[in-house]
Amino acid sequence: MNAPLPVEVLKQHLIDPEICIRCNTCEETCPVDAITHDANNYVVDPDICNGCMACVPPCPTGSIDNWRLMLRNEAYSVQEQFGWEELPKEKALPQEAADDAAADDATGVDSGVATGAAPNAVSPAFSLPGASVPPWSAAHPYVNLYTHKAPMTATVVGNYRVTGADTESDIHHIVLDFGELPFPVLEGQSIGILPPGVDAQGRPHHARQYSLASPRDGERAGYNNLSLTVKRVTEDHGGAAAHGVCSNYLCDLAKNDTVQVIGPFGHTFLMPNHPRANLIMICTGTGSAPMRAMTERYRRRIDTGDNGRLMLFFGARTERELPYFGPLMKLPRDFIDINLALSREPGQPKRYVQDLIRERAAQVCELLGDRNTCIYVCGLKGMEVGVLDALREVTMQSGQDWSILHDVLRREGRLHFETY
Ligand code: A2P
Repeated sequence: MNAPLPVEVLKQHLIDPEICIRCNTCEETCPVDAITHDANNYVVDPDICNGCMACVPPCPTGSIDNWRLMLRNEAYSVQEQFGWEELPKEKALPQEAADDAAADDATGVDSGVATGAAPNAVSPAFSLPGASVPPWSAAHPYVNLYTHKAPMTATVVGNYRVTGADTESDIHHIVLDFGELPFPVLEGQSIGILPPGVDAQGRPHHARQYSLASPRDGERAGYNNLSLTVKRVTEDHGGAAAHGVCSNYLCDLAKNDTVQVIGPFGHTFLMPNHPRANLIMICTGTGSAPMRAMTERYRRRIDTGDNGRLMLFFGARTERELPYFGPLMKLPRDFIDINLALSREPGQPKRYVQDLIRERAAQVCELLGDRNTCIYVCGLKGMEVGVLDALREVTMQSGQDWSILHDVLRREGRLHFETY
C-alpha cells in the first residue's frame, strides 16, 4: 500500500523587521539561542526555535509575536530573513497540510505536525532574572503609536550636559516637544530615535532606543514634551574608538532642530500606580533615566502625603560623572534615601551598587518585606548578576528564602531589569 507521507507543517516564528527596534532583548532572553542578528535584522532560526514563548513578553514592541504556518521544508531560512525589509505575505498551505494543522489546533494534539510549542518548551516565568509582567496597579501603556514607516517629528527644546565638563562622560539631558500631536507615555517606557543618513550598506539607519527621563505629564508638567538621558558614545564595550551614530547626533542637536521619533515602547518596566507603593531603584550612568522619571512622578505629588518610600542606589565613576548629581542632592532626605556608589573617586575605595545594597541590608530587607515594594534595575549589563547576588545574600541573612521571594517578585511584576 502506498499511504501518503505525512506533510510536516511548522508554525514558524518570525520577527517583524518594520516594527523591531533591534534592542536585543529577544536574543538575550531566548533560552535555546534560536535568535540571532546581523546589521539589518533580528531573526529566528526555524531549526532551533521550540516555540517556548520566553521571548514574547519581554519584547517592548510586540514585533516578536509573528507566526506563519509553513511547510517545514519551505521554512524561511535565517539568511532569507536577514534580507527582509518587511514580513513576506502569508502563503496558503496545500489543502492536506492545512487540514492537518486545523485538526491539531482543534484537538490540541500534536500528531507529528509541529504547530505549537515543542515538548521541551521552558516556562517563560523562569527564564528571566526579572518579571515579564508589570506591577498589578501599573497604568495602561500605549505602544507603537508611531512606527518606522510613520514616525512623528519632535522639536528639540533643550539640550544640556548633566556631567562635569572636565570629565570623559559626556551625558546630555535632551528635551523633545511634540506640539499638538499626541504622544502618551509612562515612566519606564522608551522611544526610538531615527538618526538621519544611511548605514555602511546604504540603508537608512535603524531606530535607537532611549528610556524616558521625564514623568508621564511631561518634562515640564502640563507640557507635551519629554526628556532623554543620552551618553555620547566614543568607544565600544572593549574600549576601542567607536562613533555612536545616534548618540552623537542627539548630543549635537541644537534648540529648534527636529527629530524623527517612533514609539512609545515597553509594557512591563512600569511603576505601580497605587498610593504608598515603595520603589527600590538601582542604576548606573544613563540607567538613571527611568529612575529620574519615577522619582519626579513622586516628587510632583509630595504634598499629597500619599507617597511610599523611595530608595536609590546609583553607580558612577565619580560625583562629576554622575548624571543629575546637583538636582539629586537637592531632594529632601526624608523623600528619597540616596546611596551613591562611586568606583573611581580619588581617595575613596571603589564601590559598586551591589556593595551598597549589602551595606544597607536591613533597610532593603524591610522594604522587601512589604508587598507594596517594587525593584527596578537599569544600566550596565554587568551589574545584573552582582545585584541579584547581593539581593540573595541580604535576604538569606535575614532568614528569608531568596528563591521563593525571587519567584514571587517576578510573578507579581515587582522586579524589573533593563540592562544593556
Ligand atoms: P568602573 O569604574 O569599574 O567602570 P560607566 O561610567 O561605564 O557607565 O559605569 C557606571 C558605573 O558602573 C561605574 O562606576 C562602573 O565602574 C560601574 N560598573 C562597572 N561594572 C559594573 C558591574 N559589573 N556592576 C556594578 N557596577 C559596575
